[in-house]
Amino acid sequence: RIEQRVDSVLKLMTLEEKLGQMTQFSANQSITGPVMPDNFKPYLLKGLIGSIFNATSVQGIRAFQQIAVDSTRLGIPILFGQDVIHGYKTIFPIPLAEACSWDLEMMRRTAEIAAVEAASDGINWTFAPMVDIARDARWGRVMEGAGEDPYLGSQIAKARVQGFQGGSDWKSLAEANTLLACGKHFAAYGAAESGRDYNTAELSEHTLRNVYLPPYQAALEAGVGTFMASFNDVNGVPATGSRWLMTDILRNEWGFNGFVVSDYTGVNELVPHGVAADEKQAAELAVNAGVDMDMTGATYIKYLAESVKEGRVSERTIDNAVRSILEMKFLLGLFDDPYRYLNEDRARANTMTPEFMETAREAVASSVVLLKNEGNVLPIQKESGKILALVGPLMNDSINLNGEWAGLGDRNKSIPILKGLTDKYAGSSVKLIYAAGSSITETTPGQIAQAVAAARRSDVVIAAVGEDFNWSGEAAVRTDIRLPEAQIELLRALKTTGKPVVLVTLSGRPLDLSWEDETMDAILQAWFPGVQGGNGIADVIAGDYNPSGRLVMSFPRNVGQIPIYYNQKSTGRPVDLKDESVDYRSRYFDSSVTPLYPFGYGLSYTTFEIGNVKSDKNVLNTKDDKLTVTADVRNSGTADGEIVVQLYTRQLTASVTRPVKELKGFRKITLKAGETQQVTFELTSEDLAFYGIEGKKKAEAGALKLWVAQHSADDTNEISFSIQ
Ligand code: IFM
Repeated sequence: RIEQRVDSVLKLMTLEEKLGQMTQFSANQSITGPVMPDNFKPYLLKGLIGSIFNATSVQGIRAFQQIAVDSTRLGIPILFGQDVIHGYKTIFPIPLAEACSWDLEMMRRTAEIAAVEAASDGINWTFAPMVDIARDARWGRVMEGAGEDPYLGSQIAKARVQGFQGGSDWKSLAEANTLLACGKHFAAYGAAESGRDYNTAELSEHTLRNVYLPPYQAALEAGVGTFMASFNDVNGVPATGSRWLMTDILRNEWGFNGFVVSDYTGVNELVPHGVAADEKQAAELAVNAGVDMDMTGATYIKYLAESVKEGRVSERTIDNAVRSILEMKFLLGLFDDPYRYLNEDRARANTMTPEFMETAREAVASSVVLLKNEGNVLPIQKESGKILALVGPLMNDSINLNGEWAGLGDRNKSIPILKGLTDKYAGSSVKLIYAAGSSITETTPGQIAQAVAAARRSDVVIAAVGEDFNWSGEAAVRTDIRLPEAQIELLRALKTTGKPVVLVTLSGRPLDLSWEDETMDAILQAWFPGVQGGNGIADVIAGDYNPSGRLVMSFPRNVGQIPIYYNQKSTGRPVDLKDESVDYRSRYFDSSVTPLYPFGYGLSYTTFEIGNVKSDKNVLNTKDDKLTVTADVRNSGTADGEIVVQLYTRQLTASVTRPVKELKGFRKITLKAGETQQVTFELTSEDLAFYGIEGKKKAEAGALKLWVAQHSADDTNEISFSIQ
C-alpha cells in the first residue's frame, strides 16, 4: 500500500522536485529559533528540500514544515534530522562509555529515551547509531562507537537501532515517539590511517568483511532505515562514490531497502579526493553509486537535472532514490499528518523527566570501569568517617561532562562530581575538602600547594582528571594520549603526601595511563558521563553501586602500540608473552606488546571465579550443529556484584589466518557474595563462520579452542574442540 502511495506522489513530481527530495540542508540557530541560511531559502520556498537538519524546537520546525506543506506545489512534508547520539536533552554517557556496560537493554533504553525526547521536539530522524569499529585511540570519534570488537559492536548496533526506531519492524516508525535511525559511517570510517579523521582506509577485503562490516550488517538486520556514507576512501575509492559498497554490498548482497545519505558535503569532497573533476561529476558518481540524499552539499539539486539530460544519470536512478526517501516519510506518518511530531505540551512532558534522569544515573554507574583498586581503597562507605580531599580540574566541572555530540543537552545542567559527592556524603561521617589544583592544561605552584594542603588533611585523595570534551569527536585527533603535563604535575605533588590517590578519569578515548597505573592507588575510568555524571560516579565511589563496566577498547601502554586490539593475528613469529625479550619475534624493544588494560577488563568491589567449564561435545559439523558450553561462575568475594562472563574462541587452522581470540558471546549476571551460578553458551557453526580464502562466509573444518573468561587476556579456562 505504501508503495502505491509513494508512486502516486512520484508521478506528480518534476525532475527538479525529485532532486529537491534528494537534498538536505542544515538550518542555522538564531536567537529566535532555527533559520534557513539565505542561499538555501529559495529551495525551501520552491519545495526543493527533502530534509532539514539542525532545526530545533516545535515552533521552529513547524515554521519550516508549514512552508513545505502549505506554500509549495506538492506540499511534500520535510524530514527533520539531527545528531541525536547519546541523548537529546537528557544526555547519557558517551556511546563508548555505555558500551562498557555490556548492558544491551540499557543501551536500547537510552536510545529509546533519546528518541522520545527528540521526537517530542519535532525531530524524526537521528544520524545514529555510529557503528564504526575503532582500533585507534588517537581517533576522536572512538567516543561515539562501541569499541573494537565486531561481535559486541554488532549486538550494540542492534540494541541502539531498536531503541531509536522502536523495534526491528518499520511499522514502529509510525509511532510518534520513535526516530528513523541511520547506521554510520558506511564503511570503515574507523579504519582511518593513523587515526586522522577523514583519512584513507587501506584494508583488505578480508579485514573489511570479517571486522569492519559486521556491525553495519547487524544494524541493517535490526531494521535500520537509513545509512550514512563515510567520508573516507576505502582501498582507493571514496565510500561516497563507491558503487561496490553502496549498491553491490549494501543493497544487492544485504538487501537494504532504505536510503543512503552522504555525510556533510561528502559528495562535494569527491573533488578533493581526486575522483571527480568538478561537483557535477561528483554528484553523478555519488548518485550512481547509490547515495540517495546529499547532505548540505547542494550538488544534486544544482547539477543532476543536466546530468539526466546528458544521459549520465538515468531517471530510474533518481526515481529509486526518491522512492526510498518518500517511503520513509510515509512510514513516519508525515504524509498523514506533517505536524504529528509537533506539540509543545508533549515536548514539555517528555523532556528530562525524573525517570529519564534516573536511567541516566544508572547508565553512568554501569558505564564506569574500575581499572585499579590497590588495597581496596574504594569504595568509601558513608559510615567510614574518612576525610576526602576532592581535587582535579574536572572535579567541579559541568561543562565537559556531556562530552561531544551531546545533542541539545545544557552543559550547565550536568551534575559535577563535586556536587554528586557532596550530596552523597551529606549528613554522613565522611568529610570533604575541595581544591582544584589545576585546570585541564595549566597549573600554578599556588594551585598545587592548595590541593596538596587539602590532601595532607585528608585520608584519601580523589582526583578528577582527564580531557577537555572538545578533544574527542569529529576532527579531534591526538597524537599524545597522556594526561596533560599540568595534571601530571598535580598528581605527582599529591602523591608526595603519602595519601592514597584515587583517579577518576574523564575522557572520550582510552588514554595512555601507564604512569598513573604505576603511581596511583585506584583508577576509575568514567569517560564523559553526561548529565547525571556526578551522581552516578558518586554512587560508585560510595559503594552504592558495585562497578560492573568492562573495557570495549584496549588501553595501550603507549601511543606507539596503536593500533592495538585483542583480536589480532598470531603472525608467524608470535612473541612469547612469558619472555618478550626473545629475539626475532613480533615484539618491541622498548615496550611489551600487551595492552595496559585489555579488552573486556574491569574490576569490581568483589572477586569472581570461573570454573568447571565443559562442552557437551568436542566435534562440531560445519552445518547446523551446535555446541553447548557451561561454566560455574562464583562470586568469591564479600560484596554482591555483576560480572560479564565472556566466551572467546580461536580457530587454530583455516584457509586464512584467524585472530588469536574472538568474542563469541557474553552474559552479564548478578551474583550475591558467595553465590555460584551456571552460565550456558551455545555456539553454532554459523557463529564460527568467517570470510576465508574463497571470499565466502562459512565455517571451515579445523581445530579450535574456546575460553570462558573474565576478559580477553584471561586464558584460565580453555577447552579444545574441532569443526569437521
Ligand atoms: O552526522 C554527522 C556525521 O557523523 C559527521 N559529519 C556531520 C554529520 C552531521 O552533523
